[in-house]
Amino acid sequence: MEGGTLLVRLNRYLSMCGVASRRKADQLILEGRVKVNGLVVKGLGWRIDPQRDIVEVDGKEVKPPKYRYIVLYKPCCYLTALGKVKDGKRTLEELIRDIPERVYPAGRLDYNAEGLLLLTNDGELANRVMHPRFKLPKTYLVWVQSRVSKETLEEMKRGARLEDGFARPDSVRLIRHEADKSLLEVVFHEGRKHIVKRFMAHFGHKVLKLKRTAIGPVRLGNLKPGHWRELTPSELKALRKALRLEDGKPA
Ligand code: URA
Repeated sequence: MEGGTLLVRLNRYLSMCGVASRRKADQLILEGRVKVNGLVVKGLGWRIDPQRDIVEVDGKEVKPPKYRYIVLYKPCCYLTALGKVKDGKRTLEELIRDIPERVYPAGRLDYNAEGLLLLTNDGELANRVMHPRFKLPKTYLVWVQSRVSKETLEEMKRGARLEDGFARPDSVRLIRHEADKSLLEVVFHEGRKHIVKRFMAHFGHKVLKLKRTAIGPVRLGNLKPGHWRELTPSELKALRKALRLEDGKPA
């Protein structure tokens, strides 16, 4: 094995390729239906180099799907949905036309909210981004109506009982006041519907503008509305770490 080469157990590789569960893959191996580089493999502990080895099942080569991880700046007034315009409302479809893989949004933003959406065809990673168990913080910049007082800010930090349960932000801070409105940065690690709007409404502050600026270690940065970019390898590594997906384990 050369430095840096990551060997993967054959049954795990077959499940990554969507051929079968690991247990069923073991069965396929024992039945002599799996070849590596042209030779039938019957040992269950066999490891392969996915970059170099050619794996066949029943004489057909199998390959893992190409995963894409996209950072999209959803502009205001787009539905977090794919497919054609719905009820006259535009969808993400027109923004990601140039991506051939079928990527899906991992989480959502309201029609009138904007900012960072992660899109991927890696189902396990997407589930973890959305699941509160993994406590991935989502950061929002929020303009709210009227001036948020120091007292209210302290109350916000303690959380609020909403109609579907208690909600407490990981953090909330006032950035500035401007005329009759305030700009806050709030971080939640859960994705209940309209969580930021309902939380602010609880304190009597209507949300005027909502922008998601970060999901875990991934930041929107200076991406322009309607534009997308690929996650960088270091962002993907940090995101997988935050989601407790070790490198080399199936995502
Ligand atoms: N909270 C909201 O209220 N809306 C969003 O789009 C995201 C979080």
